[in-house]
Amino acid sequence: MPVPPHAQVTVRAPAKINLGLSVGPPRPDGFHPLATVYQAVALYDDVTATLREDDADVTVEVLGDFADDVPTDDSNLAVRAARLLQSEYDVEEGVDLTIRKTIPVAGGMAGGSTDAAATLVACNRLWGLQLSQSDLERLAADLGSDVPFCLVGHTALGRGRGEQVTEVLSRGTFHWVFAIADGGLSTPAVFKELDRLRPLRRVEAPEVRPELLSALLSGQPAALAVALSNDMQDAALSLRPELAATLQFGLDQGALAAMISGSGPTCLFLAADSRSAVDLAVELSESGLCRMVRQAEGPVPGARILPAPISR
Ligand code: C5P
Repeated sequence: MPVPPHAQVTVRAPAKINLGLSVGPPRPDGFHPLATVYQAVALYDDVTATLREDDADVTVEVLGDFADDVPTDDSNLAVRAARLLQSEYDVEEGVDLTIRKTIPVAGGMAGGSTDAAATLVACNRLWGLQLSQSDLERLAADLGSDVPFCLVGHTALGRGRGEQVTEVLSRGTFHWVFAIADGGLSTPAVFKELDRLRPLRRVEAPEVRPELLSALLSGQPAALAVALSNDMQDAALSLRPELAATLQFGLDQGALAAMISGSGPTCLFLAADSRSAVDLAVELSESGLCRMVRQAEGPVPGARILPAPISR
């Protein structure tokens, strides 16, 4: 039987990349202070939330490319997002969540955070909570450092542990290619490796490079290419040395820049335009260096409700 529209909401939320990721020494709570510039790119997970009127259970089903890599127990970040809303606002109804994944799991692209952001937006509508964007951003920060950015999208500066986001002006559209590696990297493990590799007393407070902000304002890919940076890259390469060959291959094929995405292991490449991105994606696909290749442009908006549920 078809479900009435008010009983089902689908939200689409984007992956993130870090155009600059500067990491300070660990804080007493174990988190690392960051100065990062996030960009949301057009690789999406869709979360469909279907109302359970008779009980307060939260269930999750995961479909798509990376479904087998996603936990479906209480550790699932989308489940935690729904439960957080239930407990904060005394919600007595439940929800069945269906996640259609195209964002790699543990790939340094905020796949889990994206699903949590999408779930907050979906359940807010489904349960008629009428929470404001700033309420949602506060809850998002409790769920994970990247979750507030996944709500707002576009291009933004992230401070604190990454959860304090403010919009950054960016002109035009950039064309990205992603080489998705076999297996993931655990974010805490990469932070730990970074601390092991760096003499901590010499680590400075995190800063965003001014040339990155001016490159974004210019909208010029060539300017952006020389302004990208990622403090976590050496740590990710230390744990997965084979990724260096993937980065080099992309550069040899004409990418303007090659970098590890966030904590990795996804490699990202900046192309001069959409045509060069297609060419690069083809070469990478044929290289056998990665599990799969995706192209996406950025920036794009954050989590948003789709007009109608997508049929299976
Ligand atoms: O915030 P989130 O739950 O996504 O972070 C996962 C883990 O990554 C944290 O438990 C912490 O070990 C590490 N982390 C960090 N500094 C940050 C963000 C995350 O050390 N700014």
